[in-house]
Amino acid sequence: MSLAQDLESLAIDIAREAGDLARSRRDAGVAIAATKSALADIVTEADREVEALIRARLERERPEDGFLGEETGEGSGESGITWVVDPIDGTVNYAYGIPSYAVSIAAVRGEPTPEAWEALAGVVFNPVTGELFHAAAGEGAKLGMQRLSVNAEVGPAGGLIATGFGYDPSTHAGDLALVGRVMPMARDLRRAGAASLDLASVAAGRLDGYFERGLRPWDFAAGALLVTEAGGRFGRAADDGGPRAPLVVAASPAIFDRISELAGLS
Ligand code: IPD
Repeated sequence: MSLAQDLESLAIDIAREAGDLARSRRDAGVAIAATKSALADIVTEADREVEALIRARLERERPEDGFLGEETGEGSGESGITWVVDPIDGTVNYAYGIPSYAVSIAAVRGEPTPEAWEALAGVVFNPVTGELFHAAAGEGAKLGMQRLSVNAEVGPAGGLIATGFGYDPSTHAGDLALVGRVMPMARDLRRAGAASLDLASVAAGRLDGYFERGLRPWDFAAGALLVTEAGGRFGRAADDGGPRAPLVVAASPAIFDRISELAGLS
């Protein structure tokens, strides 16, 4: 097995355990622990507990690796590998009991910033549906045992496209204007509330494309690898150093250039 496949299989194992914990905590009731960047940006007790589980397992099994997590931040390592983790992506869905949230775990090599890293393995696990999306660099993307491919063609009705909105209300008008620019090429639009699952859906051909501004590295690290390993394209605008993270676009090659042009990626 290659290094990427070893990392993938560890990530699968940990994501299953973490997802089961998230789900059992959800069944027992959700406590909002705090708000973060904006009133709508919440963290639950479960986010913290699930990230602690993932971090502890990685420290035990790969003590030389670095860590970058949504809730506990960065820890440097010596191996050149960093784990990029969102313990519960789709926290608002989770808090409301909408069964569309996921554990997202990626292993990347190099500087732990999206501009510089090379993704080696990625796993996105929805513990409610039991769907486990996974990929290793150069080995393709799978849902369980089934190989994934993005849609090769998009019909004349346009693409089924998803997006998301940041938590900060001051960004909503700009995000809606962006939707307005992309909408002419869409047959319809989805906003499901978990970026990792949106990216997994592009990889699985359930969506033709996806775009969003303001995503953090842990929201897309695993999902971006799923898309590219399924034959899709993923792009991220240059970071202008401003308060808002740049636009990302993921799509079937059939519509990537067009959606990028309309969204302002290129
Ligand atoms: C959020 C979700 C959401 C996206 C937000 C993300 P979180 O992640 O992925 O779909 O629109 O931009 O922050 O906060 O639930 O981990």
